[in-house]
Amino acid sequence: LSEQSPERQNHITEMVSTLPSKMDVNLGMQVYCYQGFWLPDQWVVAASAMQGRFMPRTDDVIVASFPKCGTTWLNALTFTTMARHMYPPAASNHPLRRLNPHECLPFLEELFASGKEVLLDSLPSPRLMNTHMPFTMLPNTISTITTGGRGGGGCRIIYICREPKDMLVSFWHYFQQAVGVTLAETFETFCNGAMVHGPFWDHILSYWRASKLRPDNVLFLRYEELLHDPASNVRKLAQFVSLPFSDVEEEVGIVDSIIELCSLNNLRNLEVNRTGYVNLKMNLRRETLFRKGVAGDWVNHMTPEMARRLDDIVKEKLSITGFTF
Ligand code: A3P
Repeated sequence: LSEQSPERQNHITEMVSTLPSKMDVNLGMQVYCYQGFWLPDQWVVAASAMQGRFMPRTDDVIVASFPKCGTTWLNALTFTTMARHMYPPAASNHPLRRLNPHECLPFLEELFASGKEVLLDSLPSPRLMNTHMPFTMLPNTISTITTGGRGGGGCRIIYICREPKDMLVSFWHYFQQAVGVTLAETFETFCNGAMVHGPFWDHILSYWRASKLRPDNVLFLRYEELLHDPASNVRKLAQFVSLPFSDVEEEVGIVDSIIELCSLNNLRNLEVNRTGYVNLKMNLRRETLFRKGVAGDWVNHMTPEMARRLDDIVKEKLSITGFTF
């Protein structure tokens, strides 16, 4: 979360003053219940500003996720796929060799929270952006087109979800750097949903439902499937953003080059990702964006009782909708 001027902070404080609030032990700060989701005060303001002022373009692409579901990876893959004509993945000057994947595309809540959203207007089309906001919190101009309405310019959204126990363990490892939260504390926030961007089940469902209604507008990916078969997911992604690979590109192995450039091993060994911070104030180090990158690591951290309890909650919240992990 960014530093705000005193005037802006006053505006933010006033705006959230009537909302229910709770302490999120993961962040060590208050979160506020806004439109059914728990957000820090700055993100509430960002959501409201986005809903009022974001002007989507028909060829916009937004990468969306709940934190710790593979956002960094999907940002890197989408950026590399979309920018491949200007920056071939094997090129030594590729932006991902000197920038963290999060620096290659704007994070919408950051821009709208700080009142810098005008920067989006100067980006050339097709714009590529990133958000952790739930689908239902995106501006009407996006949500109406993806729920059958005719308004707005539309845009395409690529969402990634992850098995909740692995997401929890990844989330805990990442945020324990900030305020030393324990796994047991993080676990409780996952179970009751009152955590940043939570409840996670409603976050997932918001995009899953949109993807069922408008598959041309919302592509729903799973971290585990990306791990299992990155090539077919990258092809799907390219097709979805209307930039399918040509026969010539296939022949020269561009899909493998993209996967290699964006692989965990490659990214985590780059100087830019071994050093520096995602957020210095919160002590969130960049290297922790690239921890293990596997499926099933939860068994090394959670007890069978914890796993059962979370599985039961997930079953209760999601199974009636037809969604399964
Ligand atoms: P683990 O903590 O389980 O290792 P996010 O990017 O949404 O913050 O998610 C972080 C998770 O994605 C971390 O999971 C991290 O290791 C994994 N990840 C990051 N880059 C990856 C990549 N290139 N390939 C596979 N997994 C990656």
